[in-house]
Amino acid sequence: MAKELIRLSDCTMSFDGEVVLDKINLYIRDKEFLTLLGPSGCGKTTTLRIIGGFQTPTAGDVFFDGVRINAVPPHKRAVNTVFQKYALFPHLNVFENIAFGLRIPKADPETGKKEKLTEEEIQERVMDMLQVVNLKGFEKRRVSQLSGGQQQRVAIARALVNRPKVLLLDEPLGALDLKLRKDMQNELKRIQQAMGITFIYVTHDQEEALAMSDTVVVMDQGKIQQIGTPEDIYNEPKNAFVADFIGESNILDGIMRADGVVEIFNRKFQCLDKGFLPDEPVDVVIRPEDVDIVPEDQGQLKGTVTSVTFKGVHYDTIVDFYGFKWLIQTTDFCPVGSHIGIKIDPDGIHVMKKSQYSGLFGDYSSYSEEYDEISDATLEPEEEEEESHDE
Ligand SMILES: Nc1ncnc2c1ncn2[C@@H]1O[C@H](COP(=O)(O)OP(=O)(O)O)[C@@H](O)[C@H]1O
Ligand SMILES: [Mg+2]
Repeated sequence: MAKELIRLSDCTMSFDGEVVLDKINLYIRDKEFLTLLGPSGCGKTTTLRIIGGFQTPTAGDVFFDGVRINAVPPHKRAVNTVFQKYALFPHLNVFENIAFGLRIPKADPETGKKEKLTEEEIQERVMDMLQVVNLKGFEKRRVSQLSGGQQQRVAIARALVNRPKVLLLDEPLGALDLKLRKDMQNELKRIQQAMGITFIYVTHDQEEALAMSDTVVVMDQGKIQQIGTPEDIYNEPKNAFVADFIGESNILDGIMRADGVVEIFNRKFQCLDKGFLPDEPVDVVIRPEDVDIVPEDQGQLKGTVTSVTFKGVHYDTIVDFYGFKWLIQTTDFCPVGSHIGIKIDPDGIHVMKKSQYSGLFGDYSSYSEEYDEISDATLEPEEEEEESHDE
């Protein structure tokens, strides 16, 4: 396991007395791809700015390689940033955009003497970067003649050419359309691995976070809710917020009757969770793909289908159980109005402690209403088009 490179220790940030980051504790390892994930306003950019040195935490410490760097300005940190608005120089070509930072004389960290790279060194480093970001042959192009994805790659090359140990990326793909985003996600992961450097990535897009990261940090309301691998975060969410934010989840009230036995709707289900108090009220997460549809008389629970939407690989099927609506993803087509049973394997059930988020998420009543609205709107093609982009 690579060594720790950056640590935030009890970092708090307030603006005019309002706490926007609340005692953040986080470490980032060398060569790790770590993503800060959370809804707008949760404090992701602020955290990134503290790491980059653009903001000093109101309280707490920032360490780089074990050295406290709270007061070290951005240009003296081994860190570079790629912003969502890539701010390339429109009057310069691709080569000069990337070379820009290299032409500025830099003080040697040991001697303090200002040093300038030779034209050959600049040439070599820019060409290396063009290779890394797959833009060889584009060096003479004006940036205004490039596509959005190509411009983004120039911005990344420009940030990497200074050989930072860490690259900070704040929603860098936000301006790109979905197809290009997916391509660039693969591209970024490849670049990070090829360069062997640490990426700290900010996004509000959970799919993007799961696809690219070694480690995901889920944030809400200025607090870290969970840190883990994409698999941990998806399979073992810590609370209802994380379960709801990462993927689709049915979140139900349950009572832990014994180790490995949880009661939902007065029915006992086998699960793998243990260590709760006897009869402790809990939140139970059941992912839509973990529910098997069976004939009504064989089901652990019985319900009525209220909505079916074809999704290509599966049907999104909304089922009403005693007034609570679940989302089930299944390849079996069950028409609206059919009475079905369901079965859930023990490993399809995940039990969580109650939290401030209990009761806020996990019922799909409004989801089926949204579907009703979408099907009502089929006469207005423009609106439908928008819906399909809205994930
Ligand atoms: N310079 C600032 N002055 C006052 N409030 C700020 C400032 N920067 C951020 N905030 C507030 O801090 C909170 C977190 O912001 P931010 O870190 O940008 O969130 P995110 O990047 O997750 O969307 C927001 O409520 C935002 O309004
Ligand atoms: Mg932000």
